[in-house]
Amino acid sequence: MKLATWGSRTGAALLFALGVAMSASAQAPAKADATKAAPPAAAAAPAPAAEAAKAPPALAPNSTANIGWNKPPEWSKVETLPQYASVPGRETNVLVEDHGHKWRELRNGPVTSYGGYLLLIVPVLLILFYFIKGPFKLHGAPTGKLIERFNSLERMTHWTVAISFLVLAVSGIFILFGKYFLLPVIGASAFSALTVFGKTLHNFVGPLFMFSLVAMFFIYVKDNFMGGSDFAWLARMGGILSGKEMPSGRFNGGEKAWFWLGTVVLGTVVCVSGLILLFPNWNTGRELMASANIWHAVGAVLFMALSLGHIYMGLATEGAYKGMREGYVDETWAQEHHSEWYADVKSGKAAGDKDKGMAAQPAAGDD
Ligand code: HEM
Repeated sequence: MKLATWGSRTGAALLFALGVAMSASAQAPAKADATKAAPPAAAAAPAPAAEAAKAPPALAPNSTANIGWNKPPEWSKVETLPQYASVPGRETNVLVEDHGHKWRELRNGPVTSYGGYLLLIVPVLLILFYFIKGPFKLHGAPTGKLIERFNSLERMTHWTVAISFLVLAVSGIFILFGKYFLLPVIGASAFSALTVFGKTLHNFVGPLFMFSLVAMFFIYVKDNFMGGSDFAWLARMGGILSGKEMPSGRFNGGEKAWFWLGTVVLGTVVCVSGLILLFPNWNTGRELMASANIWHAVGAVLFMALSLGHIYMGLATEGAYKGMREGYVDETWAQEHHSEWYADVKSGKAAGDKDKGMAAQPAAGDD
């Protein structure tokens, strides 16, 4: 083997050995160091993971991302402030509508608690009143002569309003209070099925209630204007406590107050707010929706509480329910409960006396 080849091979080997030795020595010092006390942490080289985390992510080869441009802003900064949104439309660039916090506190707070108390206290008071006072029976004997009190259009409108109101009241109570008294009893899946069904029913019966309420207003308003005797009636609660009923027209002061406060004022509140809630696609913002929900809940709770008084009077007054169901009341009933109306019917000034002929022709010796 020629000297040169030997030499170059030896040289290469020597070089190789030298290289190995140098790298070992490079290692040796660190090893030598590891046995020494570790210098303080600050000096420690940052862990590769932390470094890696800090390092911008490796982009996929064909990524169009621009590092640092779409860095998500802090939550507290974006929560309620308008941001960039690629979806066009009202409020699509607002993540959380600030009014929403207030809405939730109000709805799940005072509206639910005070509303719940009211809807518990009123029936208890009415039951107590029934046990103390009992039903309102006729004092005199019925004559058997019937007077028409409500014609078929009035009765049909009333019962459409009344039945749709009851459906809305029950389904509304499930939606607002159900999770407190129903969910613990029937469990989550049954409760959700029932409330979804109730909400759907609520959304479809709502418009029926609205239209029949408007019809009821135009049909009943003519006999509901307040007069002197109505304020006197209200001031002494119609003499119900004393047992001596006060004179009134076709409707007494209490019924007229129910008509204006219940049917008209609260009816308008629940219907207008209900319409806003029913059509979120009318470009209505979340703030208006939240306010409409509160108006609707408060209006409905007051409406239900007030209607309990009306329903109580309608059922506890002997002959009243029959009058709204069949349309006729006995002459004695009309005389005792609505004496001014009875006089108008007798004189022919008001409709209602079936034997109109007789009423129209003054009876012998009447002149
Ligand atoms: C189950 C529920 C209801 C029952 C049992 C009931 C019963 C009655 C009865 C018996 C009358 C006749 C009273 C009389 O002869 O003077 C009456 C009248 C009336 N009811 Fe009802 N009602 C109910 C629900 C409603 C509801 C939900 C509304 C309205 C939202 C309503 C509005 C009226 C009005 C406006 C009158 C005529 C009195 C007036 O115009 O002042 N009722 N109701």
